[in-house]
Amino acid sequence: MLVSAKEMLQKAREGKYAVGQFNINNLEWTKAVLLTAQEMNSPVILGVSEGAGKYMTGFGTVAAMVKAMIEELNITVPVALHLDHGTYDGCYKCIKAGFSSIMFDGSHYPIAENVEKTKELVHVTRQLGLSLEAEVGSIGGEEDGVVGMGECADPEECKMIADLGVDMLAAGIGNIHGKYPANWAGLSFETLAAVNEKVGEMPLVLHGGTGIPEDMIKKAISLGVAKINVNTECQLSFAAATREYIEAGKDQQGKGYDPRKLLAPGTEAIKATVREKIELFGSANKA
Ligand code: 13P
Repeated sequence: MLVSAKEMLQKAREGKYAVGQFNINNLEWTKAVLLTAQEMNSPVILGVSEGAGKYMTGFGTVAAMVKAMIEELNITVPVALHLDHGTYDGCYKCIKAGFSSIMFDGSHYPIAENVEKTKELVHVTRQLGLSLEAEVGSIGGEEDGVVGMGECADPEECKMIADLGVDMLAAGIGNIHGKYPANWAGLSFETLAAVNEKVGEMPLVLHGGTGIPEDMIKKAISLGVAKINVNTECQLSFAAATREYIEAGKDQQGKGYDPRKLLAPGTEAIKATVREKIELFGSANKA
């Protein structure tokens, strides 16, 4: 069932668990995430970066594939199709394509411009019943060409954006896209606690979910995080399983070169990662 992320995140925040956003890249990714969420009776968010949207030939293709797959696979758990780190133009493209949720990442604009553009998008998404995520501060590292310096968010600025009526807020708290470096200082719980205090019941979003230790994930959830984004970890699992298949020469045995066989171990590996995260985030049986 394709839905906005609003209700699932409010329930998660109240129930002290988080819904996973798993970024998708193609049919295998989408199928793996949807089937696992259904198996675990968990709400789920499919994240699509602008780069991934382009790779899949456009947001219209993505929306059509996701909607058809939900129907063909009889997926009954709530699923949100969400633009990840959207530009202003990208947001409008996804709204037109039929996404159910949008992230406008205005974190690189001066705060007044971030406020102005977010405010406009709150108005548009509300009218259409879509959910909207905004960002303050920045997520470190690089994801599909979106580069951030990793500044911690200013809690006052978070309040300004939250008060506009967004449905979820991503605040930079020392989190990074991709693998965490060995000298990573960890999440800034001081920032998270201060933001949480300012924004009331607003569901908070933790980007850079790959490689964050379990205890930090749990603490973040206790401080208002209701959505956790995972991208790189599924890519690493997929790559490792595919490598193992090829290095074992399985693509050269029988019809092992058949793409349906060649991509199967990677797809299973994505499912295992998604399963592990859903368990850790506590969203199993919350559909
Ligand atoms: P990772 O790639 O570090 O898991 O981050 C995902 C993310 O935050 C998507 O916006």
